[in-house]
Amino acid sequence: MKKNPQTTLIHAPRKAPQYISSVQPPLFRASTIIFNNTDALFNRHWTDDYDYSYGTHGTPTTFTLADNIAQIEGGQYCLLAPSGLSAINLVNSCFLSQGDEVWVADNIYGPNMEHLHNLQTRYGITVKVYNPIDADTFQPTEKAKLIWLEAAGSVTLEFPDLAGLVKKAKQHNILTALDNTWGAGLAFNAFDFSEEHLAVDITVHALTKYPSGGGDILMGSVVTRDRKLHQQLFRMHAIQGISVSGDDVAQVQRSLASMQLRYQHQSQSASTLLDWLKQQPEFVQVLHPADEASAGHSYWKEICTDGQSAGLVSVIFKPEYTLEDIRRFCDALELFKLGFSWGGPLSLVMLYNLKDMRVLPHTHLQQGLLVRFCIGLEHPADLIHDIENALKQLPTQQHE
Ligand SMILES: Cc1ncc(COP(=O)(O)O)c(C=O)c1O
Repeated sequence: MKKNPQTTLIHAPRKAPQYISSVQPPLFRASTIIFNNTDALFNRHWTDDYDYSYGTHGTPTTFTLADNIAQIEGGQYCLLAPSGLSAINLVNSCFLSQGDEVWVADNIYGPNMEHLHNLQTRYGITVKVYNPIDADTFQPTEKAKLIWLEAAGSVTLEFPDLAGLVKKAKQHNILTALDNTWGAGLAFNAFDFSEEHLAVDITVHALTKYPSGGGDILMGSVVTRDRKLHQQLFRMHAIQGISVSGDDVAQVQRSLASMQLRYQHQSQSASTLLDWLKQQPEFVQVLHPADEASAGHSYWKEICTDGQSAGLVSVIFKPEYTLEDIRRFCDALELFKLGFSWGGPLSLVMLYNLKDMRVLPHTHLQQGLLVRFCIGLEHPADLIHDIENALKQLPTQQHE
């Protein structure tokens, strides 16, 4: 019997061979995944990698990107989340329970600290803060379960004493989770970063930054090398319904091919800007891990042996400049746009008041307002010229 056109529209023939060999892997969009028969339905193992049962548990598209990210970061297993922050939250909700203690670096990505404080208020988890360049300030009790690391901190750019902190965490049987967004798996290998082959247990990466590279997609990942940890995360990921769009995954997958080239370019441009910024009289401090004067520089040198340092550089203005002055400076920039995030083609600028951002006394940071430059893919000479012009907006008596 001839089917009604409405039915035919839905059951359109798929006669063309479904697979070709293409540069990019095929894109699967799926909430429902169709089982061939009831045997397949009853024998599904949704808690296993590569077992297809429902869109939230993974498709060939998501597993392919996840495998790529795991490989880039030196890990073995990877889960994708809809943003970097949601990947962070997955780790927190998977490994922290009532009464536990969690340690965070004072310069940790702000919303992670906020999420932990929320858990502290609601579930009685104790949040303790350490100074990332002084492992002695990490003093875990027997309740400590997890330590968050970030290398380098994404605003003040201190590179932590990763080896000292990880060794201490391992002595106390505490899980180590590193926000690996800055290094992106390219500046150093978080799963083998010292002569002693030290490794963190978990990395979290805001794929929103360098892997996406476009400033247009939000995504995050959680990578491990330990099957047991991965299975715990996999189950939490599934029961929380954490999933990503196949279209977004395909875009990130496409950008991965150029990620290292972009990272190297941005890292190089940031170094060029660093050299210039250091000579400008308006700044009391320029922050960048590759600079000898920056806190944690020796740790950076030890771990980032290829000299990579991402595309972030921050400056602290002389304290005599007011907030109004610095706002005028930011507003006068033409190529640097005012916005959060980094790793895209467009250079960005953001203004911070350190007073609101630190718990511990930060003796290595000068007083003053901080501006972070996120270097995009523009030519560094044009970016320098842009800053030079905007600096002219500062009061003339201070502009030497
Ligand atoms: C260091 C760091 N980690 C995590 C995140 C969170 O990523 P997302 O914006 O994808 O939530 C950010 C975002 O700015 C970040 O800078």
